[in-house]
Amino acid sequence: MTGGDGRSRVGRRNAISPDGPEPLTEPALTLSRAQRRRAEAQNVAEDAPREGVAIFRPIEKAVLVAVQANGRSGHDVDASLDELELLVDTAGSDSVGRIVQRRDQPDVATFVGRGKVDELKALCRSLDADAAIFDDELAPAQQRNLEERLGVKVIDRTIVILDIFAQHASSREGKAQVELAQLTYLLPRLRGWGTALSRQAGGIGTRGPTRGPGETQLEVDRRKLNRRIAKLRNDLRDHERTRRLKTKNRERHQAPTVAVVGYTNAGKSTLLNALTGAHVLVADQLFATLDPTARRMGLPDGRVAVATDTVGFVRKLPTQLVEAFKSTLEETLRADLLVHVVDAAHPEADAQVVAVEDVLAEIGAGEMPRLLVLNKADATPSEAMDSLQRRFGAQAEVVSARTGEGVEELIQRIAGLLPPDRRIVEAFVPYTRPEIVAQVHREGEVLKREDRDEGTWLLANVGRATFQALRPHSAKNPWADEDGQV
Ligand code: GTP
Repeated sequence: MTGGDGRSRVGRRNAISPDGPEPLTEPALTLSRAQRRRAEAQNVAEDAPREGVAIFRPIEKAVLVAVQANGRSGHDVDASLDELELLVDTAGSDSVGRIVQRRDQPDVATFVGRGKVDELKALCRSLDADAAIFDDELAPAQQRNLEERLGVKVIDRTIVILDIFAQHASSREGKAQVELAQLTYLLPRLRGWGTALSRQAGGIGTRGPTRGPGETQLEVDRRKLNRRIAKLRNDLRDHERTRRLKTKNRERHQAPTVAVVGYTNAGKSTLLNALTGAHVLVADQLFATLDPTARRMGLPDGRVAVATDTVGFVRKLPTQLVEAFKSTLEETLRADLLVHVVDAAHPEADAQVVAVEDVLAEIGAGEMPRLLVLNKADATPSEAMDSLQRRFGAQAEVVSARTGEGVEELIQRIAGLLPPDRRIVEAFVPYTRPEIVAQVHREGEVLKREDRDEGTWLLANVGRATFQALRPHSAKNPWADEDGQV
């Protein structure tokens, strides 16, 4: 996250589109006392808990904690903690110290060992820290045990990332996705967060951490959370439907799509601007219904592609977040080409590429055609660039989204990799999807057809939209023959 432009922030624009009303979720770690009071008053008046406000108390100074488990190098742990420090800084708090423990694996009860807990407590006290932030996700019981023993707030990397996403979510959908992720994280941890949550959950009073009546309160909290989660899921389904319509519209216009992905701060937005500002040839109204994160990109051969931005990835992206953003990320899967942007100037560029590839694999995009773009060439020493090229192959494009160096070549390259408007495809469509076969007959030219036991085998000449529908069933990747590197 240094990348020649300072360490000022991480994940600034993680979600999604700039429209939408006032945030549902408020900046959490950074709320001032007055803001919090206002937010609490607001929440008490409403039925649904507003977890973005509720669950995180403001933190000023934090000690960072990591375990160097077997098989992990010290360098890896340090890099991860450096990143956590930036995340914490972005969330509005200060990291004042670090503790790393080497052990075979994290302790089941307290993540670090008993002696380390004492050491951590003493360090927090001497540095006047009001929180310990763990670099890995803590189990609910670990979090509770640690809080009891340390006497300071205990949070983990997941909370910090969720918090940053909550601060930066701007569209209704983005906010709902982040809130859903937060609540999914919170649900099994209600016991620990109960008091804070109760205040927020419709003014249902406070409760102590004891059993008895407290358990009843817990049930109430749980029910409220579950209701809110159900509502958010419902809302997200509506958003998804709307987005599908927009996508369909795009497909009807037969525009090929490019999804820009990459580690947070790699320069995705800057590159998207450079790419879409380069050849503005086509009337706007064609894309008038596009999501604001999708922009039209003129290609040198006169075609127009749609380029979309995605959330910035970070190491250990919380699973709740990946889950909540699934439908948005799935949009990425529909793209014809992934442009994976790398901050080549970052000392951890290699590890960031791997982290992004991991997330892509997790969302099922591991096999998609992609182009690696080594960005920030203007700020990258040539030895570092050479080494990245050696590592990732000569096909990687070297650009500077900031100065424009290499951008024209990149556009040419993208144009070459985007599939032609029509192509011949061979596919086996199961009988459960008769509408796809109907679409091929309606919109494409069927060259051969065989109805077999399990489904219909087709050889057809189809346009883009039909190809997209056939793609999951296609017998081979049609790009593989055209360009060896895809
Ligand atoms: P997230 O929103 O965090 O996912 O970031 P992003 O990947 O969209 O990155 P963004 O385009 O916001 O750029 C991050 C920082 O890198 C900004 O300060 C940019 O000005 C800077 N940057 C982007 N491209 C270049 C480049 O080619 N050279 C240099 N020196 N800086 C760049």
